[in-house]
Amino acid sequence: MELDKDLCIKMNDGNKIPALGFGTYCPDDVQKSKCEEATKVAIEVGFRHIDGAFVYGIEEEVGRAVHEKIADGTVKREDIFYTGKLWNTFHRPELVRSCLEQSLKKLKFDYLDLFIIHNPMSLKPGTDPLPKDENGKLIFDVVDLRQTWEAMEACKDAGLVKSIGVSNFNIRQLEMILNKPGLKYKPVLNQVECHPYLNQGKLLAFCKSKDILLEAYSVLGSQRDKMWIDQSTPVLLEDPVLGAIARKYNQSPALVALRYQLQRGIVVLFKSFTRKRIEENLQVKQEGREKRMRDTPPCVQI
Ligand SMILES: NC(=O)c1ccc[n+]([C@@H]2O[C@H](COP(=O)([O-])OP(=O)(O)OC[C@H]3O[C@@H](n4cnc5c(N)ncnc54)[C@H](OP(=O)(O)O)[C@@H]3O)[C@@H](O)[C@H]2O)c1
Repeated sequence: MELDKDLCIKMNDGNKIPALGFGTYCPDDVQKSKCEEATKVAIEVGFRHIDGAFVYGIEEEVGRAVHEKIADGTVKREDIFYTGKLWNTFHRPELVRSCLEQSLKKLKFDYLDLFIIHNPMSLKPGTDPLPKDENGKLIFDVVDLRQTWEAMEACKDAGLVKSIGVSNFNIRQLEMILNKPGLKYKPVLNQVECHPYLNQGKLLAFCKSKDILLEAYSVLGSQRDKMWIDQSTPVLLEDPVLGAIARKYNQSPALVALRYQLQRGIVVLFKSFTRKRIEENLQVKQEGREKRMRDTPPCVQI
């Protein structure tokens, strides 16, 4: 089963990104080997876009999975689009490249396809990714994100990354980068939480007006990790409206949730460590194709 490789979106720097990506965030209570196996499955069934991050602590496993699929002839490195993220403790400009180089080393890659600032808030540099004071409060750092961005631009100029972008930025934070004197490269995308309960309409309109892609995460309602999610909040894939639409079109709620974003011109990430679901999610590409050809903006290459 081979994905239509041309189902890619052109970014503002001329590089292309596959519209549907495989997420690798793995909560602490899940074995990392599951993520490694699932990454191999995702590549086997046809996904070519993989979303990772320094802070996920999973880059060695993901890199091994990719290299195994390169070694067995399924893909070449250039077929894979891999995103890495600059963690919050590396925002000082002199630390940016070191975070990237650590990721490259763990992945055993020469370059990343996309490198994004994971969050707009900076934390105290050091080995602890979530440094806290004696009262258990996070210790922040004061960094001008425009300087962080310049260091990101330098990583691109050094050939270590092909494209650069941001994550979890609001409109004001994006404007700060866009209005920076001497800006060399605009962010190609902004990766944010986005699903029917948080559809990011205003941010999407702003990004489109600036030729910045929106990339959606937690599209299926997230992994409901106890560390981040209030367990009393509604479960997205059990939403009655989503369920009714799914029944009407003879689809699963997950496919409706994925296709909703693709039809809005959004790059979509999903995570699943289950083969059957990884295969199921692939169907959104095939079944949405005709409709997307009518609806998507011209930058989308189908
Ligand atoms: N930039 C950021 O700050 C940020 C934050 C969060 C996430 N992300 C990225 O976005 C990725 C995806 O987001 P997410 O991890 O929050 O999860 P998600 O894509 O919303 O997935 C949530 C859950 O849906 C289940 N699922 C997948 N396909 C399904 C299907 N067809 N039917 C029913 N259930 C299905 C999966 O469970 P099973 O594994 O059991 O199948 C998964 O645990 C992450 O892995 C990460 O790469 C980035």
